[in-house]
Amino acid sequence: MKYNIATIPGDGIGPEVVHETIKVLEVVAGLTGHTFSYSMLLAGGAALDAAGHPLPEETLQTAMAADAVLLGAVGGPKWDHLEGDLRPERALLGLRKGLGLFANLRPALLFPALKQACPLHPDTAEKGIDIMVVRELTGGLYFGKQERLTDKEGKEFAYDTMMYHEDEIRRITRVAFDLAKGRKGKVTSVDKANILESSRLWRKVVLEEAKAYPEITLDHMYVDNASMQLVKQPQSFDVILTENMFGDILSDEAGMITGSIGMLPSASLREDKRGMYEPVHGSAPDIAGLNKANPLATILSAAMMLRISFKMEETASLIEQAVSQVLESGLRTGDIFTAGEQMTNTREMGLAVVNQLKQLEKKGA
Ligand code: IPM
Ligand code: MG
Repeated sequence: MKYNIATIPGDGIGPEVVHETIKVLEVVAGLTGHTFSYSMLLAGGAALDAAGHPLPEETLQTAMAADAVLLGAVGGPKWDHLEGDLRPERALLGLRKGLGLFANLRPALLFPALKQACPLHPDTAEKGIDIMVVRELTGGLYFGKQERLTDKEGKEFAYDTMMYHEDEIRRITRVAFDLAKGRKGKVTSVDKANILESSRLWRKVVLEEAKAYPEITLDHMYVDNASMQLVKQPQSFDVILTENMFGDILSDEAGMITGSIGMLPSASLREDKRGMYEPVHGSAPDIAGLNKANPLATILSAAMMLRISFKMEETASLIEQAVSQVLESGLRTGDIFTAGEQMTNTREMGLAVVNQLKQLEKKGA
């Protein structure tokens, strides 16, 4: 098969981590006989510099026509003074909405080799962490009506709207429940139903959809409690289902307890499983261009792409195994480094995964 991957390196460390990921994908191509072509596209600050807009029409159109989108990161201090629609982050929102990517999957997995990097109590880390955050990505406060106004006395006020239609809640609920089937069979729906009307509708619709999944355990939790339970007993979670803003916040927290945000992949999907794959971390301008960034989150995002959009389950698992084994060997970029381990850089880390992948394939053959 031939797959066309719309590739958006973006800003900061984006180009470096995407570069390493393409090396891994090329090994996969060699091993499987599939062909990957990469349409290199501009978005974020890079696009602002080149074309005056964070999401040029060509980028959106090519991304829409591609089999999948692979993105590094966007944004940086150079563009921080820009307002509203010209902010580099707008490119992300434009891609999400434009491509209809309503389901954001953010797995937070504590690799056994990284237990030391977990900021929680060692007893908690010892029990392991394996959570899938399912965040609604095209509704709620991010896309609701917002306005900044001035009152009669010349004082400013502003509002944002959190709105959900029951169909939006239904489709993301089904994604969460389907995922739970292949995991530990538990969904925790996170809301603020004691305060928000949109949350009360959320809860009602989740309960209705849950009827089609009698084998899945469902519980509901207020978002403030959920943020507490994540650090107290992360083992109590399997799949977390939540709306856009709550998911933004909780996924950072879930990520951090696994040691480093530099390890976390993500998938943003539409109904037909086309998707955009990107690391959860940002553009890290402080280390951009220094060969210091951790490429593993992007490599793991590519593994998600192979699994979900290209149905290459075995190859995806092989990449994940290779990453796990490279970590077992003690190799660490700065973000996951603790005393006694071997400090490495972006390119060496990428190469280590490439070599491990080739080894694993040889053993399997
Ligand atoms: C994320 C980011 C984005 C978001 C920003 C950069 C727009 O924080 O993907 O979690 O808030 O969704
Ligand atoms: Mg975020």
